[in-house]
Amino acid sequence: MNNQVIQFVRCGEIMEVRNVPPTRTLLELLRDDLNCTGTKEGCNEGDCGACIVVLGEAQGEKIHYSAVNSCIRMAHSVNGLALWTAEDLAAPDGALHPAQQAIVDCHGSQCGFCTPGFVMSLFGMYQNHVAQGHAITRELAQEELSGNLCRCTGYRPILDAAQRMASLPQPASDATKTLQKLEQIAQAGQAREADFSYKSPKTLSDLLSARTQHPIAQIVAGCTDVGLWVNKLHRNFEQVLDVSGVAELRQIADQDNTLTIGAAVKLTDAFAALVANRPQLHTFATRFAGLPVRNSGTLGGNIANGSPIGDSMPLLISLGASVVLASERGQREMPLERLYTGYRQNVMAADEVLAFIQVPKASPGELVRIYKISKRFDDDISAICLALNLHIVDGQVASASIGVGGVAATPVRAVQTEAALTGQPWNPATVAQATATLRAEFSPISDMRASADYRVQVLGNLLQRFWLESQGATGINLECFTLEGVQA
Ligand code: FES
Ligand code: FES
Repeated sequence: MNNQVIQFVRCGEIMEVRNVPPTRTLLELLRDDLNCTGTKEGCNEGDCGACIVVLGEAQGEKIHYSAVNSCIRMAHSVNGLALWTAEDLAAPDGALHPAQQAIVDCHGSQCGFCTPGFVMSLFGMYQNHVAQGHAITRELAQEELSGNLCRCTGYRPILDAAQRMASLPQPASDATKTLQKLEQIAQAGQAREADFSYKSPKTLSDLLSARTQHPIAQIVAGCTDVGLWVNKLHRNFEQVLDVSGVAELRQIADQDNTLTIGAAVKLTDAFAALVANRPQLHTFATRFAGLPVRNSGTLGGNIANGSPIGDSMPLLISLGASVVLASERGQREMPLERLYTGYRQNVMAADEVLAFIQVPKASPGELVRIYKISKRFDDDISAICLALNLHIVDGQVASASIGVGGVAATPVRAVQTEAALTGQPWNPATVAQATATLRAEFSPISDMRASADYRVQVLGNLLQRFWLESQGATGINLECFTLEGVQA
């Protein structure tokens, strides 16, 4: 049993819970231990959004709000944060929060399972946008509800509700009191260090020391995949080393030609930095899982986990990214694709952790595109992911860098296709040759997401699309389809 206290702020007061095993999920803590059954369980694997709660973190004088899936989030990870569930939104006199009232006004609720999750996503949206004086567009509503599924397809009134919130009276804010309580918890933080079953170091040197001493501890960050190992594979870990609070690993440094992204930077923030440098990545960034997963998951977690269908790696390989591994012995850097040795296997020693990801910034003349093929538009896993980064100079391919996901045991670089393109004229004959090379370069498997034949066919088709886009063809990519356009 774990005797570490978990402290978090709820409804403006500090709550304490004890004797929580390291792999108990936040949803289990809420529903089974605290009897807060307003938060629902649907899929229990981060897909449906029924379990969404909102976490608040102090950022200077403000609170940053994040909607997350409580079913795949470890309970210990909310230590030091503020937490809101669907039961916490109405005022003491019963007045509904705008996130709730808008759902009522727009007839956005049909069943009791998805609605608490939708309301919590709306609450996060309200706090981060409406309360800051920003309007909610249809596109923003759609992007921020990407992690909520309604089985009866009642999305239109829910999107209406998102946009209606701003026209409702603003509720009183409890931000000041919440910030005071968060500071109180931070001051008392040392009390947690007595027990190692769930350790959350705050500095890189503390993390490396803990890793040296406890090389078999399960490293976690946002737990968006480890949470599934716990829920679906019933795995249990006696020791968990949570890297998500390590200050150095939560930073993004923008220096000269490189973005250095700490391994514990959340996917939401990592993609915001990548998109700021390359705006064409916006649609892909919004299709990486759903927002609650991106709000918990980290870029380092996606990379270190090493899934062959992890979406960040093909992109980063194409951009020429490298990873920095750190231990008490020092640091070493290598191209991202060299991290992997086999299915979810990598070169990291027992005392090493993934610390930083170095991403070269956009360079003049580069042509970068990434294509994700999945069954759903968002909140889904790729069947195929192809990222291309070409420099065309005077009609010739000066360089080609291509990352691929979903075709091998690891994310991979398409070295043969790169060779088939480099130095060749950028014309239909070269593209046809490179398409044949790309289709022959990998031997993907058939699984529930796609057959091997489909993957091979689509890979080549995507290169053809890249060619057409490079020639100015319009109407053939996802940016051409807007929600309004589909409705018209
Ligand atoms: Fe479906 Fe958590 S229960 S996302
Ligand atoms: Fe709940 Fe559609 S209203 S699933």
